[in-house]
Amino acid sequence: MLIVMMKAMKDFRAAALVVLLVLTACATWRWSGSPPRDERTANAPLAARSAGGELHPRPVEAPPEIELRLSTAPAAVKPQVVVAPTPPEKLKTAVYPADLGPETVDVSGYPPRIRADYQVYARVCAKCHTLARANYSQHVERAWWRLYITRMRARAAWKGSRLSRDEVRAILNFLSHDSRARKRERRKEFEKTTAELERRFDAEMALRLQRLQKGRPVLDGR
Ligand code: HEC
Repeated sequence: MLIVMMKAMKDFRAAALVVLLVLTACATWRWSGSPPRDERTANAPLAARSAGGELHPRPVEAPPEIELRLSTAPAAVKPQVVVAPTPPEKLKTAVYPADLGPETVDVSGYPPRIRADYQVYARVCAKCHTLARANYSQHVERAWWRLYITRMRARAAWKGSRLSRDEVRAILNFLSHDSRARKRERRKEFEKTTAELERRFDAEMALRLQRLQKGRPVLDGR
C-alpha cells in the first residue's frame, strides 16, 4: 500500500516537474523573443502627451529609452542651451527648481501689447517670490493660470494689495502668449533649461541635507 502511494506520489511529482519545465521553457522563449507590441509602443502615449505640450503635472519622468535617444541625436538637432549661473544667495532660498532660473524673459520678439503686459506681470508676480518661479513654471494652460491668480488674489487681498481686472487680464494674456511661444513652440529648449534647473536644485537639496545631518545631535554615541 505504502509502496503504491509512494509510486503515485513519485508519478505526481514527476508530472509536476514536467509541467514546471514546460512553463519555464515557455517563459524563457517569451522573454528571449522580441518584445511584444504593447511593450514597444508603451512609451508612445507619453511622447504624444509631451508633444502635445502638456507640461503639467511637472514630475513626468522621461523613461531611460527617451533619454538615450536624446543623447544620441545628431548635434544639429540639439539646441545648445546655456542657462545663466544661479547667484549663490538665490540657491540658498530656493524652494522650487524654477526659483533658480533667470529673472527676466526675453520679450523682444513679442508683439508690443504683450510686451506691455509683461511689465504688469513682472511687477505683480515678483512681489512675493522670484519672478523666475513664474517664468520657469511647468504650467502652460490659461485655465490653470486663471485659477492660480484667483487664489493669489485672495492672498494678495489679505496682504493688503489688490489686483485690478485689467492687471489680471494683462497677466493672463502675457502668460498665455509666453507659454505658447517659449514653452510649447520651443519646447526642447525649455525642457533642457528646466532639466538644468532641476539638476542644480537637486544638488542644492543634497547639500542642505548634509548640513542638516551635520547639525543634528549625534545619535550613535561617537
Ligand atoms: C501674495 C504673494 C504672491 C504673489 C503676489 C504671487 N505669488 Fe506665486 N506663490 C506665492 C506662494 C506663497 C507660493 C508657494 C506655493 C503656494 O502657496 O502656492 C507661490 C507659488 C507660485 C508658483 C508655483 C506653484 C506651482 O504649483 O507650481 C507659481 C508658478 C507662481 N507662484 C506664479 C506666480 C505668478 C504668475 C504670479 C503673478 C500673477 C504670482 N505667483 C504672484 C505667493 C505669491
